Amino acid sequence: MRRIRSLRREAVGQAYCSTANLGAGFDCFGLALNKYSDRVQIRFTQLNKIRLAVKGAYSYGVPKDSNQNSAGPPAVALLERARLKKGLFITIDKNVPQGLGLGSSGATAAACTKTLDHLLDLRLSDDELVRVASLGERAVAGTAHADNVGASLLGGFVIVFDNPVRTISIKPPSKLRIVVATPGLRPRRNKTRIARGLVPRRIETEKALLNVGRASAIATGFSRGDIELIGAAMSDEIAEPRRSRLIPSYDNVKRLAFEAGASGVAISGAGPSLAALVDETRHSPRMVSRAMVQGFAQKGVQASSFVARPAPEARIVRSR
Ligand code: HSE
Repeated sequence: MRRIRSLRREAVGQAYCSTANLGAGFDCFGLALNKYSDRVQIRFTQLNKIRLAVKGAYSYGVPKDSNQNSAGPPAVALLERARLKKGLFITIDKNVPQGLGLGSSGATAAACTKTLDHLLDLRLSDDELVRVASLGERAVAGTAHADNVGASLLGGFVIVFDNPVRTISIKPPSKLRIVVATPGLRPRRNKTRIARGLVPRRIETEKALLNVGRASAIATGFSRGDIELIGAAMSDEIAEPRRSRLIPSYDNVKRLAFEAGASGVAISGAGPSLAALVDETRHSPRMVSRAMVQGFAQKGVQASSFVARPAPEARIVRSR
């Protein structure tokens, strides 16, 4: 059995929510948003099991069974990695709303992974942290997609690629604002699992080529700080054509967002929110936000919206 070098008994970590995909980067791109964040407190216990408690503004309906909560599998994996026979008591302060397409489960998994890596003094690399955190997504969505956890852990714009997953993290341009508009649909249980079931298992080469080209342009746009280039490449041929049918007024909201000055618009993660990228030195994010809400309203759908900036990486808030 391994001895922990530090004497830490408990720690609290925080990770922000995120928007995944950005259109052409299905399952490969994540962008952390500074609107909501989850906090996870972890302490060691003598009982040889993982217990969860969930509190906070959006705790309702969050599973407390550690196999079904995105905090559980990363915690198990890290304890195994540390070869430590101890129990954990994990308290999730759930402040990222679920079911909106803002990487809620990813934020919890990221905060848990960051905190436990610290407590166990494992000092995992960024890539390893993202791999571990993605195990939490498998518990919730059926697959270990790493785009949301990548962004929540590393902050800013993150590319996840390859198997096993590797990551590239790029600092977004400081003038970038992200407008998120959410139709007031009743959140579905297992929404992400269902939305992932809509993604075609096979795609034509022609469509794959379009996505590869656009995704490359988006990545280049982030490297160059070119918001117009990022926005111009945000269309998707893989997931969005099928998922957009579930979002009332999708075309109308997109059109109005562009007219109000958005550089690009895509479904945020598995939806139903739409995320628009805006260069705030050229256009008003508030106007884009209003236009998107209006776009939903024109088709009789009530919606809410907010404007966010790219968020920093997950961090340890407290440790003793
Ligand atoms: N890339 C994932 C998807 C994000 O679109 O299904 C889900 O949160």
